[in-house]
Order: sequence, then structure tokens, then C-alpha cells
Amino acid sequence: MAKLTVSDLDVTGKKVLIRVDFNVPIKNGVIGNDNRIVAALPTIKYIVENGGKAILFSHLGRVKTEEDKKELSLRPVAEKLADLIKKPVTFVPTTRGAQLEEAINKMNNGDILLVENTRFEDLDGKKESKNDPELGKYWASLGDLFVNDAFGTAHRSHASNVGIASNMDQAAAGFLLEKEIKFLGNAVDTPVRPFVAILGGAKVSDKIGVIDHLLSKADKVIIGGGMTYTFYAAKGMSIGNSLVESDKIDLAKEIIGKAGDKLVLPVDSVVAEKFDNDVPNKTVDGDIPAGYMALDIGPKSIALFKDVLKDAKTVVWNGPMGVFEMSNYAEGTLEIGKFLGTLSDATTIVGGGDSTAAVQQLGVADQLTHISTGGGASLEYLEGKTLPGIAAVSDK
Ligand code: 3PG
Repeated sequence: MAKLTVSDLDVTGKKVLIRVDFNVPIKNGVIGNDNRIVAALPTIKYIVENGGKAILFSHLGRVKTEEDKKELSLRPVAEKLADLIKKPVTFVPTTRGAQLEEAINKMNNGDILLVENTRFEDLDGKKESKNDPELGKYWASLGDLFVNDAFGTAHRSHASNVGIASNMDQAAAGFLLEKEIKFLGNAVDTPVRPFVAILGGAKVSDKIGVIDHLLSKADKVIIGGGMTYTFYAAKGMSIGNSLVESDKIDLAKEIIGKAGDKLVLPVDSVVAEKFDNDVPNKTVDGDIPAGYMALDIGPKSIALFKDVLKDAKTVVWNGPMGVFEMSNYAEGTLEIGKFLGTLSDATTIVGGGDSTAAVQQLGVADQLTHISTGGGASLEYLEGKTLPGIAAVSDK
């Protein structure tokens, strides 16, 4: 059923609590990547332009000690948001109490306020992360309406998403959450076919759920990245010193048996004697020679994958094809990313932290239809799991 969205609400003059995911990389007060802030702008702008008071909540990192609070304040995010939205943003350096309540009471229509990192509440009994009932109730009491736009946090059942929602009459999805559900959800549940999934990354163990779910939905599932070699081992091939999860070889055998010709594995690899960009490398077909480790897919695999992808109408990509952080092993990921950009008839979706970083670093993100803001949330969504943050949003 369709979800209630922010555009269904009358926000004028209302205190609108908005859960965003501003969990962005920050080093020495400098934000490394502001994508998640940019992605939240449409919802915030909509509320502000319609005369609502935007009260923003987010977590940042994991707060375990008093010391962590210094590095994990949302203050730099408030400054960045003010720059991006070209409006003042009031930052409240606390998560509860008189200072917060007074700041909210002083807000005029169209004002924006950012509450300090919700996980500061984790120092005292993990109140945020364990969805303490009193905390969710308290935060809910600060507003009239609740909008959840934090897709990246949707796999968590925390006080600031599920807790607030369960203490309001209604909870609406923001535009980002709506967009993520549309792209990731529709791609998997009602894909325009052929539907091809590309799954990479280092470990089979991280992706078992996704492989299983997508094998039941996609027409082809391409495997790349480090996890390839657990599949090679399952086929009885030599893998040299390549990454392998020995305890997952039986599972890989099972997947190969179940998948039949749906599963497409690399046919060649770029190998080196060390995990190092600057040592000599070479390309080998099939088996990996003793003393070598595979660090990227080779040109024949790239050609094979492009052939599988060329007629696709829906593509979901999760996980890089090789060690893209090192320039000599980035070719596979780059070539596949560039090729997806040429599929003008296809909906191309990237989900998951590593693959998102890869397409951004390699400069192909703009050519793809949708780059998810979710890491763990995208993965769990692609596994077909119900995400608590989405479940807590009211149906239309
Ligand atoms: C993420 O970056 O995946 C989300 O913001 C969730 O963060 P967490 O894994 O610390 O809960």
C-alpha cells in the first residue's frame, strides 16, 4: 500500500519533526561528503516554503563515551545545511530539556532547527538505539507532525524514527524516503524486464540474503569482486591467495546449484602477488595461479557482463567489481559503471555504501538513475526485509 507522504500534510504553522539521516563523514569538523544532506533538502524546503517549522533530528556515528561527543556533534552539519539551503539554521546543542523546548517555542513559520546528535542519548542506557519508550514519547511531544526522511536509518528501530512515529497519530514519508522506496522497492518487486542484478564486494557472508532474494527476482545475477573466489572455490577452481570464506564454500555450491545459468561469474581476473597498487599485475583466465591474488575482474569478464547487461531494462548494483580504491584495480568497477550510464532505456540503481562510494569516486554517479543514500538499509531492503523505519510510516 502507498505510504502517506509529506505532501499529504497541511504543514502551515505546524511544528514538523523531521527525522533525516545526516550521518555523514566528518573529520576535524569538515564534512567529507554532503550527499545525504543534499538528498534531504527537498523535504526540508517543502516544509519551510509551506510555512511549517522544520525541527530536524539525526544521529551521527556511534556515541560510546563522553569523549566521542566532541567529534560527533552535529554543529558542522547545521552550518553546512544553512549554506546549502541558504537560510539560517538554529543548532540546539542538546537533545532534551528547557534549552531545546524554548528554542522550539521561539520558532517562526519557515524556520529551521537542528537538534544535537540523537545518539548522545546512548550514553545513558542506549536510550536512542534501544528505542526507549519515554524518549520517543518526549521527542514526539515537541511537535505537531512527524515526517521520516531517513532512509539510511530505516533498518534501525530507534527512538528518533520508530519511537517518535509510534507516539504520533500519523507519520509521513519525506520525499527522499518516498524516492528510495520507489526505486529500490519497485526495481525488485515490479521490475521492467530483463532485470539484471550485479553483486560485488568482498564477502559472500555480507550478501547471502541479497543473493538469495535477487536470484528469486532477477533474470540474471552477475557476481564480481572478492566474493567471486569463494564461488570459484565452490566450483573446484584454484584461487591462489585470493580472498575466500572457507566456511561459505558449501553455501556458494548450493547457490550455484540453485541458480543454474542465472548466475554469471567472471571468466578472467587481474591478479598480483600482493595487495598493493604498485606491484606488477597481470590478467589470467579462470584459475588463479599459486602465489597470486585476484584484485579486479579482467577485460573478458567486463565484455561478458556488458553483453548480459546490454538489453537490461532494470539494473540493481550492489558492491564493487574489484579493489576500486586502488587505480590499477578500478577498471572493472569503472567500466561497468560507465556502461550502465549508456543504457538509456534502463532504470539503473546503485545501493549500498561501497558501490555508492565507487560510482561517486569514479565520476559515473550522474549517469545513473538512482544512487541510494542507504548502506545497510539498502542491503536489507534488497534482501526483501521489512525495514522498521518504513513500516512505522502510516499508509495513505
Ligand atoms: C548508515 O550510515 O548506514 C546509517 O546512518 C545507519 O548508521 P548505523 O549503522 O550507525 O546505525
